[in-house]
Amino acid sequence: MQLTRSGPTRIAMIHGPNLNMLGVRDPEIYGKEDFASLNRRIENHAKQLGIEVTIQQSNSEGAIIDFVQDSRAWADAIIINPGAYTHYSYAIRDALADSRIPIIEVHISNVHAREEFRRHSVISPITTGQIVGFGPQGYLLALDAAKRLIEEMHR
Ligand code: DQA
Repeated sequence: MQLTRSGPTRIAMIHGPNLNMLGVRDPEIYGKEDFASLNRRIENHAKQLGIEVTIQQSNSEGAIIDFVQDSRAWADAIIINPGAYTHYSYAIRDALADSRIPIIEVHISNVHAREEFRRHSVISPITTGQIVGFGPQGYLLALDAAKRLIEEMHR
């Protein structure tokens, strides 16, 4: 873990596949709020907490791995919802593990109350923790958790 970065806490927020379709995609599961509105709320909440957040989204596994590898150089923590890649992408898991910074995994829906295949995450063993089932609010809870975590690491 790197403990000596200076300046404000910097968070890489990575949205995986199909999350750009929020508001349109299964609103009974993922809510009615669209992706742009969610990202505005994330940015506002980060501002209130006094932390910097960089938001990226891709539908491609390789692009998500590039985001993770790049974050390693500047981010204090990664908040990621890997979408369906959660359940089978060892490549994203390896990239996250190699980043050597805290990882918070977010799922909008309660994956444990859905289909069997969603109950298993190949990502969670290398995360600090997961926030699952709180709807889009989960991203704001993840920012709170990340801030606290980084402060504790620097203490
Ligand atoms: C999700 C849950 C995944 O199973 C699903 O494939 C998604 C979204 C969630 O946020 O609840 O794309 O990660």
